[in-house]
Amino acid sequence: MAETTERKQYLTDELRSQILALAPRYPTKQALTLPALHLVQHTYRYVAPEAIVEIAELLELAPAQVLDTMTFYGSFFRTPDAPLGEYRVWVCRSLPCCMCGGEELLDRLCTRLGIRPGETTADGKATVEAAECLGACELAPCVWVNGEVCKVDSEQALEALIERLR
Ligand code: FES
Repeated sequence: MAETTERKQYLTDELRSQILALAPRYPTKQALTLPALHLVQHTYRYVAPEAIVEIAELLELAPAQVLDTMTFYGSFFRTPDAPLGEYRVWVCRSLPCCMCGGEELLDRLCTRLGIRPGETTADGKATVEAAECLGACELAPCVWVNGEVCKVDSEQALEALIERLR
């Protein structure tokens, strides 16, 4: 009996439409790779090598061009072996936040969730990462949770954040 190897398709019709709809806003197809990667990661919580190839095909680029964009952003884009949790949490550790307890906050949050910075909880609920200035220094120590910035400067605020991430 012949073996069939089914390849997962990452770019659904909806994702393809979303990516192509953004094209008029970008000067080149290469520039469109960044929002395409964002959309894929938002959907799957990681970017698989197959998705890189599919984006390249869609945009008529070489896979290496998409990979270039992805690797330029370092660990921002996750791979299948280290996907993002449902919540992506950044704890700022730049100087203003650090002086208000940012480093300690990162340590305490990770300890309470049983992970190290950069890791995801076993239940896949939260990924906690150290970040540089999040542009909201007035909220020091500042935490970014799925796009929402908040000030976590008290035991009560820390407990509320942990509760949300569990
Ligand atoms: S230094 Fe933390 S948000 Fe700017």
